[in-house]
Amino acid sequence: MHVRVQDSVLWLHAPAKINLFLEVLGRRDDGFHELETVMAAVSIFDTLSFSATSNGRIDFACHWASGIEAQRLSRGAVVGSAWEALPEGTDNIVVKALERLRYHVGSRQGAVVRLFKRIPAAAGLGGASSDAAAALLAANRAWQLNWPLPRLRQVAAEIGSDVPFFLHGGTAVCRGRGERIEPVRRFPTLSLVIVRPPIGLSTPAVFRQCRPPTDPLSSAELLAAGQSGNHGRLSAAVFNRLRPAAESLSPWVGRLRDAFAGCGAIAHEMTGSGSCYFAVCRNHRHAGVLARRLRAMRLGAVYRATTLPPNATL
Ligand code: C5P
Repeated sequence: MHVRVQDSVLWLHAPAKINLFLEVLGRRDDGFHELETVMAAVSIFDTLSFSATSNGRIDFACHWASGIEAQRLSRGAVVGSAWEALPEGTDNIVVKALERLRYHVGSRQGAVVRLFKRIPAAAGLGGASSDAAAALLAANRAWQLNWPLPRLRQVAAEIGSDVPFFLHGGTAVCRGRGERIEPVRRFPTLSLVIVRPPIGLSTPAVFRQCRPPTDPLSSAELLAAGQSGNHGRLSAAVFNRLRPAAESLSPWVGRLRDAFAGCGAIAHEMTGSGSCYFAVCRNHRHAGVLARRLRAMRLGAVYRATTLPPNATL
């Protein structure tokens, strides 16, 4: 999470994530699923601006980032529908996160918050969770709470399973609902191509459709493969248990799998509960070649990205 201060306004770049590995260990009594997943923050960003006020109001508005609106209007149905609905209004997760933080703090500090969206929704990229984490980090600083990360993490977990991960960023093994974070050190930077097809997927619907395995896989091989730099090992270890469930709900997931299988990536997989698919590439140049190939197939919005280091302390 990159932060800049300009005239007492905080500007944060809230990254997306991919799941390099996702195993479903079982269904829990609270309706959630027990997970073991390796998440990596990636360089597709929403931007959040935050200025503290003393009037007790959370004044929130959400816009398309400059460039996205033009792409939405100019690129036609297939690409444009990756950004159908703007998450406006007081039910936005950013407002919920700030209300929740104020509840715990017991204060009525206010803020003017603007969110500029680039990360597509219903994509498995964690955009909304990252926005919520950015809002918590911004408020912690601008409201001068100075809470340590573990305390902020508890509030983050109440907002959503993926929100605690974004407080840390980088690459991490996440367990429980996804909220128990174990940062991974010395994981290499990966060059990626990510495609968001025209149709998104609902996370609860995909989880409902998933059958937890009797013999779950461990993330240990993915971590060892990544750290070894051995492409063959990485290809075999990238994994997502939710993919068959997602494939049964949307034909786009199978279409993307077929397209990625034929495009020469080191590894490819669906991220989170979909519907985005990613390819791990040999390097930045290779990612450029793959992105051009995938763009020509008109499968949706195509992004080039890299994995990111952990957040600097705010
Ligand atoms: O925690 P979050 O609000 O992101 O979860 C959205 C939905 O995804 C949950 O309501 C649940 O249906 C599903 N989910 C799950 N197990 C998880 C995480 C999410 O079943 N570990």
